[in-house]
Amino acid sequence: MKYIMLHTGAKMPALGLGTWQAAKGEVARAVTEALRIGYRHVDCAHVYGNENEVGEALAATPVPRRELWITSKLWNNSQCPKDVRPALERSLEALGLDYLDLYLIHWPVQLSHTVMYPQSGSDLIAWTEEHALETWSALEDCVRAGLVRHIGTSNFSMKKIQVLLDKGSILPAVSQVEMHPYLQQNKMRAYCQANGMGITGFAPLGSKHRPAHQHKEGEPGLLNHPDILAMAERLGTTPASILLGWAVSRGTSVIPKSTNPERLRQNLAAADLELAEADMAIISAMDMSYRFLDGSHWMLKGSPYTLENIWDGE
Ligand code: A2P
Repeated sequence: MKYIMLHTGAKMPALGLGTWQAAKGEVARAVTEALRIGYRHVDCAHVYGNENEVGEALAATPVPRRELWITSKLWNNSQCPKDVRPALERSLEALGLDYLDLYLIHWPVQLSHTVMYPQSGSDLIAWTEEHALETWSALEDCVRAGLVRHIGTSNFSMKKIQVLLDKGSILPAVSQVEMHPYLQQNKMRAYCQANGMGITGFAPLGSKHRPAHQHKEGEPGLLNHPDILAMAERLGTTPASILLGWAVSRGTSVIPKSTNPERLRQNLAAADLELAEADMAIISAMDMSYRFLDGSHWMLKGSPYTLENIWDGE
């Protein structure tokens, strides 16, 4: 397994298991199998609604806690400073852990505390730098209290991360963003490198298991792109392995979701795939800044959020 070195000296396994949309009743089995075959990094979130099942698998594994890397995420309705530690403690309890390796602010989007998913624009509260810094400061307190070893961001633009870098006391350890050949995140990758942060890519396989309302008409296929198919055939491997091998070969971490034992094995093995420079170049040419998950579900009528103010034009 390759690792991403973080500013604290900690090593995050480059390939982890994603658990978004992993169906209830399947997650515990998938995590148990993943840990059995060698996964050591599991990416979770309160909003996925399945942390207690992940916890069942963690409770039963013979793998020592210190060998595991467990990430979770602070949901958008718990960003007020007073809500941050209780939210983290809820995830810890569900996961059966006494600390997390990494806790991320899930979205630069704020929801009213009683709302899990917005039903109207009035459930959403505008994002401000002051608010982000207050949330960050509460997260820093959780680090000092020993509840989490690293804190970071998810779906944040560089502009929003920079506010935390400039005014926070603890450096964000990881930026988690959508990343795959159609959205290569070269600027974010260079930015993280320059600032001593790791980068993790979600939706590395195109996240086809997204809820129906998050699919756009005519969106491009990733696993069936002709260049990816041809490369997989030439190298005697699968399209998914090519996409994951590409991600790990360029020094990023990646968290493909699967609950299928054969695909779990295939995805883990892909972390050791070394792609030749010529093949990396073929994939580089596929970049088109295309987001499968562009956050448009936050843009209900009357919402303060727009594509422009979530992504800051990046
Ligand atoms: P499944 O859980 O049945 O394996 P992403 O990680 O980009 O969010 O994509 C996850 C989706 O890709 C899930 O639908 C998952 O289904 C599927 N998937 C995971 N691994 C592979 C693989 N090796 N080949 C094809 N599809 C895969």
